[in-house]
Amino acid sequence: MPAIKFYKHEPIPMEMHKVKIVQQLNLLPADERLKKMYDAGFNTFQLHNGDIFMDMLTDSGVNAMSDLMQSATLRADDAYAGSETFYRMQAKLEEIFGMKYCLPAHQGRACENILATRFVEEGKCVIMNYHFTTTKAHITRLGGHVEELVKDEGLVSKSTLPFKGNIDLEKLEACIQKETPENVAFIRVEAGTNLIGGQPISYENMKAVTDIAKKYGILTVMDASLLQDNLYFIKIREESMKEKSIREITRMIADLFDIVYFSARKFGFARGGAILLRDEELYHSMEDLIPMFEGFLTYGGMSVKEMEAMIVGFDESMEMDVISQGPQFIDYCVKQLDAYGVPMITPGGGLGAHLDAMDICSHIPQEEYPAGALVCALYLCGGIRGMERGTLSEERNPDGSERLSSMELVRLAFPRRVFTLSQTEYVIDRVKWVYDHRELIGGIHFVHEPKTLRFFTGLLEPTSDWPEKLVAAYKAEFGEDQ
Ligand SMILES: Cc1ncc(COP(=O)(O)O)c(C=O)c1O
Repeated sequence: MPAIKFYKHEPIPMEMHKVKIVQQLNLLPADERLKKMYDAGFNTFQLHNGDIFMDMLTDSGVNAMSDLMQSATLRADDAYAGSETFYRMQAKLEEIFGMKYCLPAHQGRACENILATRFVEEGKCVIMNYHFTTTKAHITRLGGHVEELVKDEGLVSKSTLPFKGNIDLEKLEACIQKETPENVAFIRVEAGTNLIGGQPISYENMKAVTDIAKKYGILTVMDASLLQDNLYFIKIREESMKEKSIREITRMIADLFDIVYFSARKFGFARGGAILLRDEELYHSMEDLIPMFEGFLTYGGMSVKEMEAMIVGFDESMEMDVISQGPQFIDYCVKQLDAYGVPMITPGGGLGAHLDAMDICSHIPQEEYPAGALVCALYLCGGIRGMERGTLSEERNPDGSERLSSMELVRLAFPRRVFTLSQTEYVIDRVKWVYDHRELIGGIHFVHEPKTLRFFTGLLEPTSDWPEKLVAAYKAEFGEDQ
């Protein structure tokens, strides 16, 4: 379908779907939100969904399903072993990725557990453009370490570079020489690089990286969880790929890698995950881990209803009208905020709009989690739930000191096909207000700090009464009931 043109208006992002089922939203007054924030230990993961107006925590498992996906669930074939649903799913994945073997798992991190358990051991290195939290946790749990080789420009917040997730090829060669090829468990390329702002990687870079890996005989793995956004960006930003269809690009990418894995909470708009392979021996080397950790080989911990929905979702992920929705809304949001002067990660990527908290809250030391504080401020001032992606999401160094993150981001995720343009305008408005009152935001510190993945379950407190002062200013602006 062509992009919609307007008579007296610049083009705006258009919802290429209509709403069939709705969920009522609830905007608590600011004083109640303040109480809820204390109850949640200044950790947005700990908030209850009913207390949130705009849930922009993540796109994971909260993308809207289409009518065709919903109706497909009725077809599900429930069986512990040999479910027809699984064979349909496997066939669809083979059609799209050209990989014959499929190991199902209950979500993305479960795939990461299987891959790390199979390939990582004490002292081994995994090379990647940038880590994802759960990926790294599984690798380090087994005594491995991660080398992140994203190009330096990828970590510059304001940029016009189209592919900020690209790997630095010189660093890659040097790292393989330093580690020795035998010690590299695998090279992992993450499409739509999550923790640096949903930034894509080009096909050209994927090809160059996998060529180098082949030269040294190193296994290559693609994390395709955010592939659909990356596919959109390759199609519109990479000159040599403009004439290719999304299906052709997907196949060209899959052909480069030994293994593709994904979270179907993202790719496929459902809930689940899978590891895809073309090599039979490699498949057999991991198959026993699925019944041990996930479930039998024909469901892998997933509900068959979700698997049926996913099959349709994979096809929808190959349609430009569908995969353009997220990036276009994000682009709109980023451009509006950038024009207002709010420090944003530019250009807009996939997954969500990312605020540069290092800059916005430059008065808060990194040890007091500027992005963690800013994300709380957005809930207090508008009922918007985002996610901290900075130092708080890191793990401490072995000596107990903070591992300061190279970026301090607040992610406002745009789950696909969920929010409308007026809701996006509301978010833009409240972010502007918070930005204009940023000096009122203070730091936060842990009162309960789990050892691993502390951002999920940790509890924190403000370092002063800044939340009360911020809420007072907000009420003075918008009234008691907002
Ligand atoms: C790039 C990437 N890889 C892996 C995962 C893990 O997937 P899941 O949340 O399904 O465990 C995520 C989840 O956000 C992700 O963004």
